[in-house]
Amino acid sequence: MFILLTYLFLLFFFVYVVSKATGLLLLLERKIYDVRHKENVNDEGKVVVVTGASSGIGMELARVYSKRKSKIVVAARRLSNLEELKKTCLDLGASEVLCIECDVSIEEDCKNLISKSVEKFGDRIDYLYLSAGVGLDQPFSEAKDLSNYKAIMDINYYGAIGCTLHALPYLTKSNGHICVVSSLQGKFALPQRCGYSASKHAVNGFFNSLRVEMKGQIKVTIVCPGYVWTEFQNSRLSTGDTREVIRNKSKFMTVEQCVKETMEAVKYNEHEYIMTTKGKLGVVAQAILPQSWIDYIATSSSKNAQRK
Ligand SMILES: NC(=O)c1ccc[n+]([C@@H]2O[C@H](COP(=O)([O-])OP(=O)(O)OC[C@H]3O[C@@H](n4cnc5c(N)ncnc54)[C@H](OP(=O)(O)O)[C@@H]3O)[C@@H](O)[C@H]2O)c1
Repeated sequence: MFILLTYLFLLFFFVYVVSKATGLLLLLERKIYDVRHKENVNDEGKVVVVTGASSGIGMELARVYSKRKSKIVVAARRLSNLEELKKTCLDLGASEVLCIECDVSIEEDCKNLISKSVEKFGDRIDYLYLSAGVGLDQPFSEAKDLSNYKAIMDINYYGAIGCTLHALPYLTKSNGHICVVSSLQGKFALPQRCGYSASKHAVNGFFNSLRVEMKGQIKVTIVCPGYVWTEFQNSRLSTGDTREVIRNKSKFMTVEQCVKETMEAVKYNEHEYIMTTKGKLGVVAQAILPQSWIDYIATSSSKNAQRK
């Protein structure tokens, strides 16, 4: 009897680990969700606030919601990019677009972003997409001081929670959804990315906690992409290292694919969505494999975008 139970337990454990690692479990969960929620998503007229919309993932999110005829608030520091994006969004079908110049590392700017949104579209926010972010790649042993390490927290972490704090009453009112664009580096730590990895781990920790705290009032989805082909690799915080970043494009996901997966994760109200098969496998492997193997995988992954 004992042997049979042990055998069944091991079999169940094996099936669970394989289906979790390959994404099969996720597909099953989504099928169940579809059966239970038959209505189609209708985002027409919904208020969607997107930070980091002047390029990359944030810009693509604004484009997709335009096709859904939403009311869109786009924010970033480069107002000229936002004004260009506004024209595209209106052409694509957005019902209204508001551009706000905003440096998320300044709390007053986060507050202003939300109050301008409320002024124009009323006191509800249906979706808050937090995509503003910068990278930092530098061996910590080469840092001269902590300025970049503080700056990256100000943008990637405090920027995200600053916008969230001021948007919370309006998100609550509409039972809204926050989606924060974290990274696989919010789950795994890569060498030479201490500052970036720390900021994304902080993001994951904060938003996982907030989701539980605000259960029933707002929804929170954390998406963790791997490498995505955007301007991101060229807009890292300056470290004085002028060597070119060599990127292996074949290892990068397109921004369209990243946004498609992000919006599916939001549709299915997933809590922490890990992108790429390698990422999904990695999360399971991290729990069961020896740390030295995980360190080896992390080191080889960091070579997909490296200074040469
Ligand atoms: N690309 C990747 O490989 C990758 C992988 C995993 C996660 N991510 C995450 O995805 C998010 C979006 O990145 P992306 O790939 O779309 O890169 P991107 O094209 O460089 O976009 C980054 C956006 O963040 C904005 N931003 C940067 N600093 C800001 C600040 N202080 N205040 C307000 N906005 C600021 C930029 O606008 P302005 O410069 O105009 O302000 C830009 O719109 C980031 O959080 C990043 O960490 C990216």
